[in-house]
Amino acid sequence: MIELQPENPADWWAVEALYDLCFAPGREALSSYRLRDGIDPVRGLSMVARDSDGTIAGAIRFWPVRVDGRPVLLLGPVAVHPTHQGEGLGGLLIDEGLAAARASGWARVMLVGDAPYYGRFGFTRLSGVVMPPPTNPDRVLGRELEPDAWRDVRGAVTRWIEREEARD
Ligand SMILES: CC(C)(COP(=O)(O)OP(=O)(O)OC[C@H]1O[C@@H](n2cnc3c(N)ncnc32)[C@H](O)[C@@H]1OP(=O)(O)O)[C@@H](O)C(=O)NCCC(=O)NCCS
Repeated sequence: MIELQPENPADWWAVEALYDLCFAPGREALSSYRLRDGIDPVRGLSMVARDSDGTIAGAIRFWPVRVDGRPVLLLGPVAVHPTHQGEGLGGLLIDEGLAAARASGWARVMLVGDAPYYGRFGFTRLSGVVMPPPTNPDRVLGRELEPDAWRDVRGAVTRWIEREEARD
């Protein structure tokens, strides 16, 4: 029996451990992490899938970013423990996360990932939306939560809050 719950701060390291297990080493060197550094995931949308004994079997996080100054939700990472893959948990986390995002007023979502997997959730290639390099543009995908929410939204993906200048 698996239950989805909002991720709470006490879950942080268990979710990090799950991501370390599921992704190749060096995941934090990916350009998408530069958009996340120092910014909290969106509470309420980021969720864990908990086993009956409390173990985290899957997790999804969302971060706020901007494109052309407009608010955009960055989906990911999403991962499911190898012992639970193929049971529909990944799909459940994504569907529930997107429903919660829409309910809380987000208009558009993007991610960097495999088009064959995310296509089944309505994600398509976002042309003209540029992740920090190096990112394969074919893996930059988006989905509207409101009609036409991606229309005319183009340009570089930037941090939600600019970094403060380093001071001497
Ligand atoms: C990708 C992931 C989250 C999917 O979770 P899951 O619970 O196993 O997925 P579901 O049970 O909801 O769906 C399984 C289906 O997705 C397909 N699938 C999984 N990963 C895929 C991929 N990268 N590309 C295409 N299809 C994929 C499976 O083949 C299966 O297809 P089927 O329904 O036709 O049999 C999980 O496999 C995982 O954690 N992988 C490692 C981390 C990762 O790659 N995260 C995503 C970043 S792009």
